[in-house]
Amino acid sequence: MRWTTISFLLFLMACKTYTNTSNVNREQPMSTIDKKIDALLAKMTLTEKVGQMIQYNGFYDATGPQPRGGDAARKYEHLRSGKVGSMLNVRGVDQVRAVQEIAVEETRLGIPLIIGFDVIHGYETQSPIPLAEAASWDLDAIENSAKVAAAEAAAAGINWTFAPMVDITRDARWGRVMEGAGEDPYYGSLVAAARVKGFQGDDLAQPNTIAACAKHFAGYGWSESGREYNTVDVGTSTLYNMILPPFKAAKDAGVKTFMNSFNDLNGIPATGDEFLLRDILKGAWKFDGFVVSDWDSIGEMYEHGYAANDAEAAMFAANAGCDMDMESYTYVEHLENLVNEGKVNEAHIDEAVRRILRVKFELGLFDDPYKYCSKEREQTIIGHESHHEAVLDLAKKSIVLLKNERSLLPLKDNDSYLVIGQLAEDKTSPLGSWRLAAKDNTAVSVLEGIENVSGKPALFKKGVQLTTDKATFVYPVPINTTDRKDFAEAIKAAKNVDKVVMVLGEHGFQSGESRSRTRIGLPGLQQELLEEIYKVNKNIILVLMNGRPLTIDWAAEHVPSILETWHLGSQSGNAIAEVLFGKYNPSGKLPMSFPRHVGQVPIYYNQKRTGRPDQKDGNVFFSHYSDEENTALYPFGHGLSYTWFEYRNLRVEVLGKTEVKVTVDLQNMGGLDGEEVAQLYIRDVAASVIRPKKELKGFQKVFLKAGEAKKLEFTLTENELGFFDNRGNFKVEPGEFHLKVGGSSENGIWSGFHLD
Ligand code: NOJ
Repeated sequence: MRWTTISFLLFLMACKTYTNTSNVNREQPMSTIDKKIDALLAKMTLTEKVGQMIQYNGFYDATGPQPRGGDAARKYEHLRSGKVGSMLNVRGVDQVRAVQEIAVEETRLGIPLIIGFDVIHGYETQSPIPLAEAASWDLDAIENSAKVAAAEAAAAGINWTFAPMVDITRDARWGRVMEGAGEDPYYGSLVAAARVKGFQGDDLAQPNTIAACAKHFAGYGWSESGREYNTVDVGTSTLYNMILPPFKAAKDAGVKTFMNSFNDLNGIPATGDEFLLRDILKGAWKFDGFVVSDWDSIGEMYEHGYAANDAEAAMFAANAGCDMDMESYTYVEHLENLVNEGKVNEAHIDEAVRRILRVKFELGLFDDPYKYCSKEREQTIIGHESHHEAVLDLAKKSIVLLKNERSLLPLKDNDSYLVIGQLAEDKTSPLGSWRLAAKDNTAVSVLEGIENVSGKPALFKKGVQLTTDKATFVYPVPINTTDRKDFAEAIKAAKNVDKVVMVLGEHGFQSGESRSRTRIGLPGLQQELLEEIYKVNKNIILVLMNGRPLTIDWAAEHVPSILETWHLGSQSGNAIAEVLFGKYNPSGKLPMSFPRHVGQVPIYYNQKRTGRPDQKDGNVFFSHYSDEENTALYPFGHGLSYTWFEYRNLRVEVLGKTEVKVTVDLQNMGGLDGEEVAQLYIRDVAASVIRPKKELKGFQKVFLKAGEAKKLEFTLTENELGFFDNRGNFKVEPGEFHLKVGGSSENGIWSGFHLD
């Protein structure tokens, strides 16, 4: 976690005296790749160099607005004249080969394109959305999911994914919380590293691995009010301790590229922020890959009110260290002139091109530009059975049992039950909102899953007489309209069954990019429907399908069983049904707190303490709301199982100045085998910069047979015990620490230790 120990003053001096634009460590003996890059660079004209820094959108999918300037129609002309280094949204072997052939065979130097695509949670075979994956707390499975995604994307001609998104997110109003690992920087860092390893493997030159991209650098998760693309204002403590660690972890895991973020960070658009890009990323962290802008984020510096025009935007971006322009057309229009006018140093251009070429060399594109273009691989690898097995495995692990009163779940053999809700039949929403290459209507729906797992055909047709033979019967009451026409029939049917499974939540595009919401309850008529059904049958199992924490306070109070199933990808219904029928014992834990009310947002477990944390003398002068509790409805780390676990005998041993050993006994107390995520939190009681009330610093996902006990051991070192001060120095301070191990951020047994 530690990336710099230099003081802020030295840091600033380093910024000021920065002249050599290449921070790549040149003292090392030159690698073969460096020699090749030098040789190629020597042959390149300025136009060709700038060309490497330009990325155009391809033919299929627009993942951003139409560019304001530039001339998209000229992209083929530019491709032919060596003015394009990369394309995005070109997919499929034929399409990729077509553009690659132009780059390789028709341009003077034949430099291959790097082909980027948003492979966020799968290519065609979809994994759970990243927030759901994070709920598994299974780093191997998360890595494997990225590996599967990389294999499919690589088989479709793609060699670079714009993932993982490693933005820490605390505001459920922001639609993109679905794309990250949630609210915790420690866990988020581990997930970031796992995803990078999964995409890139050990050897980027293999045909089934692709370059990854840590995004969005930096601060995007802090978009004010959760409103998409909004401004970001954060203090240094938050920047160093919350926002940057997962990026550093991605860098340490060898991520090849970074992407800028749309937001300004404390008044400077991230795309033009020298502090972020040159001082931290390429300077202190010695990142030697390249940085791509986000979609038109260079051009948007004009809209931000930072650049007076597009030329100035290009100048700021290039000088700050943004190596590649995605879709703003400002580099293609202005960069060469800016160099000729002396406004951008050609050394910056050389540096950017070196970085881009290095990744292309590492991918093996110079050895074989068509290595990702095998029709045979495309046909055999995409949608492979083993990929479906992998995403099913992760989908099951990602489900979180939020509540289960009276052991309503799992469904028992003699239960009769009814399924209500349009999402139960939906074969597209479970694919999530980043599903460009997945085919609509291909996810296993909840109803199909129920059929597959129970072995009984579901009676789907509305109006079918409910029989006593435990029929599954769905009323697809719509989620987003004012249409109550199916209410009466659903209510009538609900009266005659033991249990009602209500599949409610968000459709696939109610979360994701550009889907911020101010009301984060169940959309449409779903809350009303839930309450109406409850009036006639209290045995409701609420299956939530959504991309963000929702405000479900009414359900939490009334509904006995709640299962959080997110958008679980291609195998969604099978995974949900396995949990409903008890074939899989749920083991997921929330990576993000669920608020009681949207007014609490941003709400997160690792809050700082305030000067007035508690009520004294019955007065009102303490930090609270007068109409709502401070706590989350379901906190970070929460998740139940069909069995239950007990923590005992917490022992803490200080082994040195910065080494602490922790042991605890964990026992499965129920009658079923199950898995528990044992979480360790610390609290630095008094520090030179206030530390959060608690911070996750370790976890283990442990399988225990019914009745089985295990001793768990954790070691805390400098990385876990320290923090960044407001000048970016990492330090461990002596003093008192509290420590807790338990099954969520709210539960557990406490102990403590003292560091001398
Ligand atoms: C905009 C998004 O912010 C980014 O994450 C994505 O990779 C690009 N569009 C490309 O689609």
